[in-house]
Amino acid sequence: MINQSANPADLYDPFDMSDPFPFYEYARREAPVFWNEEIGCWVVTRHEDVKTVFKNLSIFSSKNTGSSVRPHSPAVQKVLHDGGMNITSGMSGRMPPDHTRIRSFINKAFTPRRTAVMEAPIRARVIEMLGEFKNGRADLVKQLTYDLPALVVFLLLGVPDEDVPDVKQWALARMAFQWGDPSEDEKVELAKDMVKYWQYCLNLIDQRFEETRDDLPSDLVRIYNEGDKSITREEMASVCYTMLFAGHETTSNVLAEGIRVMLSHRHSWEAICKDQALIPNAVNEMLRYSPSIFAWRRITTQPVTLGGVDLPVDAPLVVVIGSANRDETCFANSETFDILRDDTKEMMTFGHGVKYCLGAPLARLEGKIVLEELTKRFPSLRLAADQTVEYRSNSAMRGPKSVIVEWDADSNE
Ligand code: HEM
Repeated sequence: MINQSANPADLYDPFDMSDPFPFYEYARREAPVFWNEEIGCWVVTRHEDVKTVFKNLSIFSSKNTGSSVRPHSPAVQKVLHDGGMNITSGMSGRMPPDHTRIRSFINKAFTPRRTAVMEAPIRARVIEMLGEFKNGRADLVKQLTYDLPALVVFLLLGVPDEDVPDVKQWALARMAFQWGDPSEDEKVELAKDMVKYWQYCLNLIDQRFEETRDDLPSDLVRIYNEGDKSITREEMASVCYTMLFAGHETTSNVLAEGIRVMLSHRHSWEAICKDQALIPNAVNEMLRYSPSIFAWRRITTQPVTLGGVDLPVDAPLVVVIGSANRDETCFANSETFDILRDDTKEMMTFGHGVKYCLGAPLARLEGKIVLEELTKRFPSLRLAADQTVEYRSNSAMRGPKSVIVEWDADSNE
């Protein structure tokens, strides 16, 4: 319950992802752009302003997206420096002209064909995982939604099965390092894992220079070998580095929270069980209603007025995608989960403009396959009554730690 007489800035808890929506509804109305001392950022909550920020990369730079919530200690800086990592060891922190050059190179490799050929192997994985759903009760996160998107990215990148546990561990370290709130000692350990993750990506590219296969890193190397030398080996590794994270936690969290929301709106679940043609739009609504990248960062490159607030140059911003997606001025009945709505196009879930998510079609494909297979096999699926759904403390990512489901065992096994 929001104290309607309080200053929104005083009520804000950037790390509490349990139910942030009532707060943002209040903030959009009372203080659409406000300063938060704890994370040292301006917080942007309205759809119109979030879109303006994403659209104008030259004024709202993405160069701070890869930095962590608090500044690094010298010990952490040393680990990263010795491991050869810097701010550009990824895609989202990059700016034009570098970003434009690298992105046009990736576009030649990460084509609709590369996504389409993944449909059959993704479906096979989903069916295999659902085959392990036994005895009428399962944890969706542990048994399906956490691992699946990681396996999909591993498939895309050609990461062999034996490396999967390590890579997953490193991806978790990166999430906690950049968007969590670890102690200084913990940060040093997390930084060591991030360095391992970066070195792994460099090796992946080196291996493909020795021998190409049927995966995305091989496509990058092939395009290079065929004459387009516009990106370096290190930049190819940074593409892989970005994908491993960008395609994992993001999709895991959307699937887990989206299915949880769907099951708590029984009529929606029953509708997609009856008519699978509704699934693509249902996936869009899951993405709008519960975006996994809940908040993202930018920094101003010049003085600018946003949402009526004058911002100086170098003002760090947090753009709250989760709030923009519920903005009542943009979406009809914005707080209502409605799988039939026709206005999801304006969602900010995948960003907007030149940095629009490269993996959006793949994420949508995963959502569609999961819902198709789940509804086919477990139409009686429901949320277990004896659970409290908890969310990791994080300033950017939102998703449940577990979602326990039940079904009528004998009808499905
Ligand atoms: C539901 C799942 C996903 C969500 C919510 C999501 C969200 C986003 C967002 C908000 C951005 C924009 C970042 C910015 O403007 O700074 C982005 C960029 C990106 N995403 Fe995704 N993403 C998802 C899945 C994926 C997948 C599956 C992949 C690839 C396997 C992927 C790859 C990328 C890449 C490479 C970028 C950087 C684009 C650039 O800087 O030009 N994403 N994503």
